[in-house]
Amino acid sequence: MLVSAKEMLEKARDGKYAVGQFNINNLEWTKSILQVAEEMKSPVILGVSEGAGKYMTGFKTVAAMVKAMDEEMKISVPVALHLDHGTYEGCYKCIKAGFTSIMFDGSHYPIDENIAKTRELVNVANAMGMSIEAEVGSIGGEEDGVIGMGECADPNECKQVADLGVTMLAAGIGNIHGKYPANWKGLSFETLAAIKEKVGDMPLVLHGGTGIPAEMIKKAISLGVAKINVNTECQLSFQEATRKYIEAGKDLEGKGFDPRKLLAPGAEAIKQTVREKIELFGSANKA
Ligand code: 13P
Repeated sequence: MLVSAKEMLEKARDGKYAVGQFNINNLEWTKSILQVAEEMKSPVILGVSEGAGKYMTGFKTVAAMVKAMDEEMKISVPVALHLDHGTYEGCYKCIKAGFTSIMFDGSHYPIDENIAKTRELVNVANAMGMSIEAEVGSIGGEEDGVIGMGECADPNECKQVADLGVTMLAAGIGNIHGKYPANWKGLSFETLAAIKEKVGDMPLVLHGGTGIPAEMIKKAISLGVAKINVNTECQLSFQEATRKYIEAGKDLEGKGFDPRKLLAPGAEAIKQTVREKIELFGSANKA
């Protein structure tokens, strides 16, 4: 069931668990994530970066694929189709394409410009019944060409953006896209608590979910995080399983070259990663 992310995130905030956003790259990714969400009776958010959208030939293709799969697979759990780290133009493209949720990442603009653009997009998203995520501070590292310095968000700026009526707010708290370096200092719970204090009920979003230790995830949820984004970890699971298949020479046996066989171990590995995350985030049986 394709829906805006608003209700599922408010329920998660009240129930003290988090909904996973899993980024998609193609049909296998989407199918694996939807299968696990349905199997575990968990709400889920499918994240699409601008790069992934382009790779799949455009947001219209992505929306058509997800809508059709949701129907053909008879998915009964709530699913939001969400633009990840969207530009101003990208947001309008996804609104037109039939996404149910957008993220406007104006974190690289001066705060006044971030606020002005977010305000405009909040009005459009509200009118369309879509959810909208905004970002303050920045997520470190690189994701699909979006590079952040990883500075912690200013709680007062978070309040200014939350007051615009966004559905959920991503705030930098020392989190990083991709693998965490060995000398990573961990999440800044001090910043998270200070933000929570300012923004009250606003569901908070934790980006860079790959590689954050389980205890930190749980603590972040207890401090108001209601959505956690995972991308790299599914890519690594897929890569590892595919490498094993090929290194074992399975692609050379019989019809092992058949793409449906060649991609199957990777797809199974994605499913296992998604299962573990849903378990950790506490969203199983919350659909
Ligand atoms: P990871 O790739 O580190 O899991 O981050 C995902 C993310 O935050 C998507 O916006």
